[in-house]
Amino acid sequence: MAGRVSPSHDTSGPGSGKGAQARHVAIIMDGNGRWAKKRHLPRAVGHKRGVDAVREVARAARTMGLEALTLYAFSTENWRRPEDEIGALMGLLKSFIVSDLDEFAANNVRLKIIGDYKAFAPDIVAMVENALARTAGNDGTTLVVALNYGSQAEIANAAARAAAKGAITPESIEAELDTADLPPLDLLIRTSGEVRLSNFLLWQAAYAEMWFTEVLWPDFKPAHLQEALDAFARRERRYGGR
Ligand code: IPE
Ligand code: IPE
Ligand code: MG
Repeated sequence: MAGRVSPSHDTSGPGSGKGAQARHVAIIMDGNGRWAKKRHLPRAVGHKRGVDAVREVARAARTMGLEALTLYAFSTENWRRPEDEIGALMGLLKSFIVSDLDEFAANNVRLKIIGDYKAFAPDIVAMVENALARTAGNDGTTLVVALNYGSQAEIANAAARAAAKGAITPESIEAELDTADLPPLDLLIRTSGEVRLSNFLLWQAAYAEMWFTEVLWPDFKPAHLQEALDAFARRERRYGGR
């Protein structure tokens, strides 16, 4: 019987069957605070070590041939944290752009932001936009950073844009999501033992495989990413079929 099979749920393409290589992986990078607490260090140190993990995992995504890696860096709910912690996170974002942009640009990485980063301070917005412009022509791995991102707002905005253009359908909403230009989400990883989505990629995760680990984000290594990809390759995705 004919039914809706949207392009992202197409079961015939690569990244869909057993033994397949994931094209698009997303990570909820959680546990920086607990990593620091265990060592009696300030939370900001945990976040700093978290950035080191980001650097290594982004490099690994490139060498492992992922088409897209989406990292949850700051949620719309993270504004609820104390001002000094938010300040530390913003400072780390700036220093990361300064220290790592050349490497991304030189290695054909395209940067992409999802979320309302324009609500950040003007100097950060300018740095982010410079980074986007410098890597816009690259066609290797896309490194997607979710900044001031909330999935419910993304879906609501996409639905409003779809309605302004015509009928609201799953396809018309999907075409307006921030991720519309990316391959379908294959694998969603969350570190630190929490088993929830925390308002991340709710729509995109409809048929993504999930991989949860107790490892705290600053301890997450490329070998863990490989472990998750290997687990993904062993899974059979059915998309409701049989
Ligand atoms: C994740 O680590 C980083 C961000 C949310 C920015 P946390 O800061 O949430 O660490 P825990 O969950 O308190 O250990
Ligand atoms: C999710 O982690 C957000 C990011 C990793 C940026 P949180 O630590 O903010 O999530 P909750 O509060 O435990 O759900
Ligand atoms: Mg957390």
